[in-house]
Amino acid sequence: EKSKETALSRLFFTHQGIPYPITMCTSETFQALDTFEARSDDIVLASYPKCGSNWILHIISELIFAESNKKYEYPEFPILECGDPEKYQRMKQFPSPRILATHLHYDKLPGSIFKNKAKILVIFRNPKDTAVSFFHFHNNVPDIPSYGSWDEFFRQFMKGQVSWGSYFDFAINWNKHLDDENVKFILYEDLKKNLTAGIKQIAEFFGFSSTGEQIQTISAQSTFQAMRAKSQETHGAVGPFLFRKGEVGDWKNLFSETQNQEMDEKFKQCLAGTSLGAKLKY
Ligand code: A3P
Repeated sequence: EKSKETALSRLFFTHQGIPYPITMCTSETFQALDTFEARSDDIVLASYPKCGSNWILHIISELIFAESNKKYEYPEFPILECGDPEKYQRMKQFPSPRILATHLHYDKLPGSIFKNKAKILVIFRNPKDTAVSFFHFHNNVPDIPSYGSWDEFFRQFMKGQVSWGSYFDFAINWNKHLDDENVKFILYEDLKKNLTAGIKQIAEFFGFSSTGEQIQTISAQSTFQAMRAKSQETHGAVGPFLFRKGEVGDWKNLFSETQNQEMDEKFKQCLAGTSLGAKLKY
């Protein structure tokens, strides 16, 4: 077990105290990110990994299509902090609106996002389902490291020794800014409950003038089943792993009672008494 932990630690590099996957992020890219010029009409999607970013990316792309009749192309890997350092130069050429998905904490975002007042949508999902989704992702996708067992992953997740660091640090950091101007947050669980209402809120926040009929169409195309059915076409071989189960409460299949209590305790320590803590549903 010890050697597995050591091997895993070699898969991360730490930047400003947070572990990032060595295969996806580099310090050169982080350095270049400081010079990134955001635009006021950039669409920023912030989430901890596995909270539904590909779902929202799809919804926004469809809203852009409904608005402009232009298919949104992802000319770069959609996660802002991933890729080669020259990507930000190339991104200067992209037409507006650009979608910038990110797993960064609020205080790690490039300053131009705030200076130029880009709107930021923050997506949260309850930490238990997020952890389970993250575990399966690691173990299913061939090109990324797998963890020996769920128990092993759970330990690392609770310590924040996973890609993009601690869920709880991410939540504490963003929680302070959820009521800021130009920031809106939505919950994975609320979208699951009422997708059409969620899409309508997203459209209004970003100022899309979509009709009710367009929202209905997008909603039908954005269900888990619809997205999973097309996942190989849209996301290649990794598609079926990205659209794995799409449910609320899958954590019950993996968490032991001790793990459940440990996470409840951590949740209380980090988020009790906050509006985010009150809203995250299991
Ligand atoms: P599960 O592993 O629990 O199935 P991300 O895109 O941030 O990596 O998040 C992936 C998670 O979002 C996966 O969770 C995936 O199934 C879920 N997801 C993706 N599209 C979805 C949709 N249309 N409806 C519900 N869940 C969706």
